[in-house]
Amino acid sequence: MDNNFLRQEITRLKAEKNAVILAHYYQNEEIQEIADFIGDSLELSKKAQNTNADVIVFAGVHFMAETAKILNPNKKVLLPDWDAGCSLADGCDPKYFKLFKKQYPNHIVVTYINCSAEIKAMSDLVCTSANAKKIIGSIPETQKIIFAPDENLGNYLKKETKRDLVLWKGSCVVHEAFSLDKLIEIYNKNPKAKIAAHPESESHILKVAHYIGSTSGIINFIKTDPAAVFIVATEAGILHELSKAVPDKTLIPAPSTEDNSCACSECAFMKMNTLEKLYLCLKNESPEMKISEELRIEALKPIERMLELS
Ligand code: 13P
Ligand code: SF4
Repeated sequence: MDNNFLRQEITRLKAEKNAVILAHYYQNEEIQEIADFIGDSLELSKKAQNTNADVIVFAGVHFMAETAKILNPNKKVLLPDWDAGCSLADGCDPKYFKLFKKQYPNHIVVTYINCSAEIKAMSDLVCTSANAKKIIGSIPETQKIIFAPDENLGNYLKKETKRDLVLWKGSCVVHEAFSLDKLIEIYNKNPKAKIAAHPESESHILKVAHYIGSTSGIINFIKTDPAAVFIVATEAGILHELSKAVPDKTLIPAPSTEDNSCACSECAFMKMNTLEKLYLCLKNESPEMKISEELRIEALKPIERMLELS
């Protein structure tokens, strides 16, 4: 289908159904352009919490649409592709997590928002990359903590907060694929460049970064830092917003270990959403996120605690 037709129809259907389109920075640029709001996971959760729309189309991955539904039981939450998962969420099976938790009695559970509703329901607090340090910092020093499912973010938090977290061994397939050797090679050719990295990256990448933060944090850093060249170690979709925000700065995507055609890192899950699927889900009101009320109530508690602390 022609993109102009798709854009016209999406705009018409949005008005007709009082729908809002929320999109993550890792979405394809056509989706970012038509979205009502783009943001990092924390900002998108807050938007989902405060919207007056009857229908929320979540252009992101499954756990994001699920979080929006947990916050909005009376709204229709749609996602363009039901199979848009996440290696972090998919790598933390509730059955095994329950057993893991049992090994550490007297620990409270902090989970990264990139997990399923079942895992959230087993958690005391949820966090995102934007507020993780603050959330850990809000917990009394003597309290023992399990952190799941991202081991790289967990190791970063251990270092930053000086807390001894028990970590689940999960990782993001995109952020664990950055090549340190190739990154150093680029940096040596651009010695005045600043390296900005997402904390889902491995510790050897974070060690050389000048800035570490969420996708919105990275955008703000690059907007305000006086350097002219930046090496960006996160999913390549962020470059769309960045190239609009800082057209005069040079942005170099951090290279992945894989020799792929774009030589940068793309999240195959995020990229499953297309403009056509966005149009079809709005038109057919499907796939629709549904969640049992019992599970929703349990998963809501740690999300609400996070939003109160943020
Ligand atoms: P943030 O946008 O919250 O930094 O999250 C990054 C991410 O990997 C989302 O899946
Ligand atoms: Fe999950 Fe990584 Fe993709 Fe984000 S970039 S959705 S953490 S696989």
